[in-house]
Amino acid sequence: MKKKVAIYPGSFDPITNGHIDIIQRGAEIFDELIVAVAYNPQKVSLFSEKERVDIIRQIFKNRKNIKVESFSCLLVDYVARRQAKVVMKGLRFVSDFEYEFQMALTNRRMNNQVETLFMMASEPYSYLSSGLVKEIASLGGSVYGMVPKLVEKRLKEKFRKKSKERK
Ligand code: PNS
Repeated sequence: MKKKVAIYPGSFDPITNGHIDIIQRGAEIFDELIVAVAYNPQKVSLFSEKERVDIIRQIFKNRKNIKVESFSCLLVDYVARRQAKVVMKGLRFVSDFEYEFQMALTNRRMNNQVETLFMMASEPYSYLSSGLVKEIASLGGSVYGMVPKLVEKRLKEKFRKKSKERK
């Protein structure tokens, strides 16, 4: 039987416990889940594409059916290249819905073989975002419980380096 593969795309700058929850739940449903880190040179990111991929690979190093890759093309083209049919996305609030709905319909317009599947964020993570995590960490606040320990460490290193560069 053909393997059921889903793609979970995102910027993951950095990955949060909310993303991790969605990845783990998705990996229970599909034979293989590919976490696809989007590389967009027009978007300023805190962590490089390689750093983001490395961090997520380390987090899931013991999970055989979770793969991590980066992509820099249209999502629908990447999905077709991977011979997958499903894009998995997490939804937190109604405010996410508008943007996600627009993207899902645009992707379907470009390739109607690709289905977008939405998974509701688990309650404890429904307020989390990479943007807020970065803001808190940049101002010296604690992001304990919001991101894995490894990300906490990397955020500290990043902002320590940045503050040294400013001096
Ligand atoms: O975590 P994000 O930033 O909300 O993820 C957005 C992402 C990466 C899924 C989206 O920007 C994307 O699919 N980018 C790839 C380029 C593309 O296909 N753009 C058209 C989307 S309709």
